[in-house]
Amino acid sequence: MGLFSKKVSHKAGQVDKSRLPRHIAIIMDGNGRWAKKRGLPRTAGHKVGAETFRKIALQCKALGVEYLTIYAFSTENWKRPAEEVSTLMSLLKKYMQEAIDTMERDKMKLRFFGDLSALSPELQDLACRANAVADRVEGFQANLCINYGGRDEILHAAKLCAAAGEEMTEENLEKHLYSAGIPDPELIIRPGGELRLSNFLLWQCAYSEFYFCDTLWPDFGERDLDEAIVAYQQRDRRFGGVK
Ligand code: FPP
Repeated sequence: MGLFSKKVSHKAGQVDKSRLPRHIAIIMDGNGRWAKKRGLPRTAGHKVGAETFRKIALQCKALGVEYLTIYAFSTENWKRPAEEVSTLMSLLKKYMQEAIDTMERDKMKLRFFGDLSALSPELQDLACRANAVADRVEGFQANLCINYGGRDEILHAAKLCAAAGEEMTEENLEKHLYSAGIPDPELIIRPGGELRLSNFLLWQCAYSEFYFCDTLWPDFGERDLDEAIVAYQQRDRRFGGVK
């Protein structure tokens, strides 16, 4: 096949399914502002935001992305008003219960990254049950970060590494991260207009490509994800080397 007759498998501006990121990570931001714009309580934004998570996870799975990591609740989010924290915890409960019931049928697994010991005993129990089901499922994996902080994750891994008497190498430390065994995210997306990482995946983001957009998370749709992936596919990834 000549140079100019090379088969083009995708159109410009469309996702090239042969070069997908294996792992996408997203900071769900803008739920509060989305609700405020509509004169609704912030908690209404979180409810719609949780549904957006479901939609985007299904889209990732359908595209052939293997892992989606979502920032749902940070180690700093406990500072929010009690009513907001309590709504976030009830949403979590609802989605954990749903995951337990549907993971095997849908061939999708939900895992949790973060220090779950701060959650209520009921939520910890649901997380254990969800993990037990996830252990039996092969396929697309969504990681929900709860009471998660990037610095906390690194510190936690370093302590485990030291306690096991292991030499402190990158490889040994990675074995103790919540993301052990999962490739680093090639693409990190932050909707909601802020240009910061907010303590998300600090170790894993070393060579991630970043994509920021103004869309508020509850409005984030299929086209937004496609646009983020297309932007990623146009990046020149050199990993510190030259081409
Ligand atoms: C950021 O928006 C969002 C959060 C801190 C919480 C996100 C959590 C959920 C959507 C619910 C739990 C998720 C699942 C899938 C069970 P913000 O409140 O900081 O928005 P703002 O910047 O407009 O105030």
